[in-house]
Amino acid sequence: MPDTILVTGGAGFIGSNLVRYILAERDEHVINLDGLTYAGNLESLADVQGHPRYEFLHADICKPEQYTEAIGRADSVLHLAAESHVDRSIHDPSAFLNTNVIGTQMLLDSWRRKENPGRFVYVSTDEVYGDLPLEPKSLKFTESTPLTPNSPYAVSKTGGDMLARAYHHTYGINTCITRCSNNFGPYQFPEKVIPLFVNNLIEGKQVPLYGDGSNVRDWLHVLDHAEAICRVLDAGKPGEAYNIGGNNERSNLELTRMLIDLCGREESSIKPVEDRLGHDRRYAIDASKIKNELGWEPTRSAWPGALEATVQWYKDNRAWCDHVRSGEYRRFHAQNYGTAT
Ligand code: NAD
Ligand code: DAU
Repeated sequence: MPDTILVTGGAGFIGSNLVRYILAERDEHVINLDGLTYAGNLESLADVQGHPRYEFLHADICKPEQYTEAIGRADSVLHLAAESHVDRSIHDPSAFLNTNVIGTQMLLDSWRRKENPGRFVYVSTDEVYGDLPLEPKSLKFTESTPLTPNSPYAVSKTGGDMLARAYHHTYGINTCITRCSNNFGPYQFPEKVIPLFVNNLIEGKQVPLYGDGSNVRDWLHVLDHAEAICRVLDAGKPGEAYNIGGNNERSNLELTRMLIDLCGREESSIKPVEDRLGHDRRYAIDASKIKNELGWEPTRSAWPGALEATVQWYKDNRAWCDHVRSGEYRRFHAQNYGTAT
């Protein structure tokens, strides 16, 4: 019998890529536990529906009674389910604290109550560290950088992150934490900057660039992230946190210009708009710990090639994008999984 991995948030951007990665590259059975919020889209996994090592469980991490049975069968957990969009958290933090803190605590509690709970990986974010100045460039987040989250989203992720740490320290649960930089790749919900801008540019619309576009993000391909999470699952030290990054820092203006170029549009496509409240200036990851201890390095993230392939994916998959934006993906859930639309 293969081991069983419980992946939470498997219908989201990173989760769906991770589920597909595990089914393709590894031997485990995967239970995809997802509450199907607006960000959960099972069309992203239509190609693995019916796979003999894959099952979907429609459940909310805040309602443990919905997943007790799955916890009993799982050998390990990769916990990704979360409210993930910073702008939404600025508008209304409540769902963020509920899912990302309380939901994580409930999932951890269910896990610790089971017999011989195995590895539990909490997928955190680099945003727990706050932000960095633009200079000096050598300054990066390490695992010992103090946690100073700035947005309600980042605070809620820090709450989950610290709970995972505390459950190791207090109860001896075999938790690990990953803190990754910005992901790009296929199946990302088009509220995030890359798919939003690409969709707009394909359709000849302008793109809303926050502030002066000088904020910097460190971009990593989602499959490099999936591989790193699996490396931590297999070999991470209990109770430890691991940074994951692409060594690929770009200002938003540089990113926007590359996307404009890849979509064959003009500089006039840029529409400067009011800045995000409390907009973090720069993220940059020092990923030497995971490289030195677990032998992981990104291999799929180099630009311009990886960005070009991502843009091409959005050009080639207009139906997926259209269904997300029209709400058609909800009908797919109802037809294939019997969920309410
Ligand atoms: P996403 O918003 O695309 O997906 C989140 C998934 O979680 C959705 O399928 C949603 O339905 C599910 N979910 C939300 N609330 C739930 C609940 N209460 N119960 C069960 N399922 C629920 O997010 P993403 O971008 O794929 O991010 C996945 C994880 O990785 C998050 O924890 C995020 O904080 C973290 N992360 C993301 C990035 C990034 O660049 N996207 C980088 C680092 C870390
Ligand atoms: O760093 C990891 C984080 O990356 C994850 O923890 C989050 O879940 C994920 O959403 C992402 O957060 P960001 O806020 O960095 O991603 P977003 O795509 O929303 O924005 C990226 C940058 O682009 C940011 O500096 C804001 C800017 N932006 C974003 C949008 C949506 C714009 O200029 N215009 C926009 O319309």
